[in-house]
Amino acid sequence: MEVNDILHEDISKLNDLFIPDCFEGSVADLRAMQAALAKIVDALGEQSAAAQGLNRIITTADKLRASPTHTLYLLKDATAKNGKGEVIGLLKVGYKHLFLFDERDHVHEVEPLCVLDFYIVRDRQRSGYGRVLFDYMLHDMEMHAHQLAIDGPSAKMEQFLAKNYEVERLLRQNNNFAVAPQFFERFADISNKSGRSTPAVAAAVGRFAAPKPHSAIANVIHGGASYYAENNGDEERLPEPLPWAPPAPELDDGPNWDDDDYQPEVACKPPSPERPSTLPVEPEAGAPPAAPAAFADVPAAGLPSGASTPASGSGAAGAARRDSQLTDKGYFDVKFYHNRLW
Ligand code: ACO
Repeated sequence: MEVNDILHEDISKLNDLFIPDCFEGSVADLRAMQAALAKIVDALGEQSAAAQGLNRIITTADKLRASPTHTLYLLKDATAKNGKGEVIGLLKVGYKHLFLFDERDHVHEVEPLCVLDFYIVRDRQRSGYGRVLFDYMLHDMEMHAHQLAIDGPSAKMEQFLAKNYEVERLLRQNNNFAVAPQFFERFADISNKSGRSTPAVAAAVGRFAAPKPHSAIANVIHGGASYYAENNGDEERLPEPLPWAPPAPELDDGPNWDDDDYQPEVACKPPSPERPSTLPVEPEAGAPPAAPAAFADVPAAGLPSGASTPASGSGAAGAARRDSQLTDKGYFDVKFYHNRLW
């Protein structure tokens, strides 16, 4: 299947459905078209990653289909390859939840449209195709270039923005994104009108500004790369995983690995029965009714009646307390121990 058979317009727009706007045909045609289109997208995504020196490919058909907030624009030259057509550029954008610092080190929690991947095939670069594709996206998204966040802009990208959109410089962020200084203008307007400034958080400086390595603890608690991505914005330009990951910390004595019957535990253990989450509550005021035998007479499991527990003390006073103020495990119930307020 040739490019001109798949993509009818010079610039085609794709989302997670992975069906060009102009497509018409049977289900079998759709499957065949999508398979051919996936090959084109994957090949171009690979070239883009190579051109930018990235370890991971940012744009693939599978990733697009798994990303409902992403949009991919493909630029073709319909006359190339003896009229069969050739895809010569891609531009992928999508919305991301980001924390961005302006020039005054005020942090803004925003969800801007981000340029995630941008590539024109090598022998077509510097011929104006990038500008055509970028202009189309801006018009389609009703955005200005300075309103976008750029994911890991290359030197070529910076020059491209400076030349074509008067974005003379970019403010690089710790999360690998960069924005034009004008990006924050609309937030400044809002704060001036309301008389309130943007909530300020101390900016990371010096060594604190260095990219943080993956935390094994954070992975355990928050679920690994997805948490990193959500809170750092950059889901696809993540650092390579470590060849060796430290084991998750043990929260108890650990499993007996030699035991054939050993079953791995789930991460969230149910509350231990040793520590009841609620304690029996006694009625207050006046003469308390007789406590149930099980509560009054059995101070501690496995302890003989009257034996001293860590909390029970000894003697008559201790025995009296034991009757009324102990948990069913024989420990003093903290609800009876408080400083008097009056
Ligand atoms: N060196 C320096 N500047 C360049 C280069 C280059 N090799 N190529 C393009 N530019 C800049 C220049 O400002 C140039 O103007 P000039 O020729 O007068 O100096 C301008 O872009 C040309 O504009 P276009 O012809 O419209 O852009 P082009 O078709 O070349 O597309 C693009 C720009 C996409 C950046 C292309 O050069 C490319 O694919 N580069 C390799 C991949 C890349 O770096 N992509 C951006 C990664 S960032 C991201 O994806 C979020």
